[in-house]
Amino acid sequence: MANPLIDITQIKRDFQLGSETINVLKGIDLQINKGEYVALMGPSGSGKSTLMNLLGCLDTPTSGSYILNGKDVSQMHDDDLAEIRNKEIGFVFQTFNLLPRTTALDNVALPMIYAGFSKSERNERATEVLTQVNLADRMDHQPNQLSGGQRQRVAIARALVNKPSIILADEPTGNLDSKTSVEIMNLFNEIHKNGNTVILVTHEEDIAAYAHRIIRLRDGLIESDNQNTNHL
Ligand SMILES: Nc1ncnc2c1ncn2[C@@H]1O[C@H](COP(=O)(O)OP(=O)(O)OP(=O)(O)O)[C@@H](O)[C@H]1O
Ligand SMILES: [Mg+2]
Repeated sequence: MANPLIDITQIKRDFQLGSETINVLKGIDLQINKGEYVALMGPSGSGKSTLMNLLGCLDTPTSGSYILNGKDVSQMHDDDLAEIRNKEIGFVFQTFNLLPRTTALDNVALPMIYAGFSKSERNERATEVLTQVNLADRMDHQPNQLSGGQRQRVAIARALVNKPSIILADEPTGNLDSKTSVEIMNLFNEIHKNGNTVILVTHEEDIAAYAHRIIRLRDGLIESDNQNTNHL
């Protein structure tokens, strides 16, 4: 691949637990191009979230290299990582992770504060992405005044607000019923069609079926990596 967006070589991640060293990621090689739509699967404990944390610059590897958008982020310190994260990565979590007692608009605008935009710029852009996720009529609602699917839409809008190069989602439908999950996956399809790179973790084959490439982890290594030509 020429200039992949994500270029990972022999990434290992160990955790120290007392006197014991746990080798969680055991040497992962992975390249992902701009605009790909990837599902990361594998049994519980296989290292999916650990890998997502590394991809999202929330963590750094014990060894190995990670070139993100041309920059080596594997040795970077926290301040620099935080800046890369804010610019390049949009996160979506299973539990939504929205601020309570804060409107949908303010939740979505929050990452733009750290990015240094003015209030009017923040409100304009947050309105635009909330409209994109079909929540134009819910902007003043707080999370507890929204359904689970609507909360996840707010979280997706927040992930998109700084126009990141990658959307990372760890079990984004894990707390949603199957009908709402389909709605959320249709939204990810749309986001992908708009040119975003999407990487999501899921346990469910029904959800992975939307992705164009399916990577399976087992015991800290990539077990298989296949194009999904019959994607939904
Ligand atoms: N901070 C940590 N310290 C010690 N061990 C950890 C730490 N984080 C993860 N692990 C271990 O690493 C292994 C992989 O964890 P990880 O959360 O990546 O799994 P996962 O594939 O996301 O599983 P699940 O499907 O259950 O979410 C587990 O055995 C876990 O106990
Ligand atoms: Mg996990």
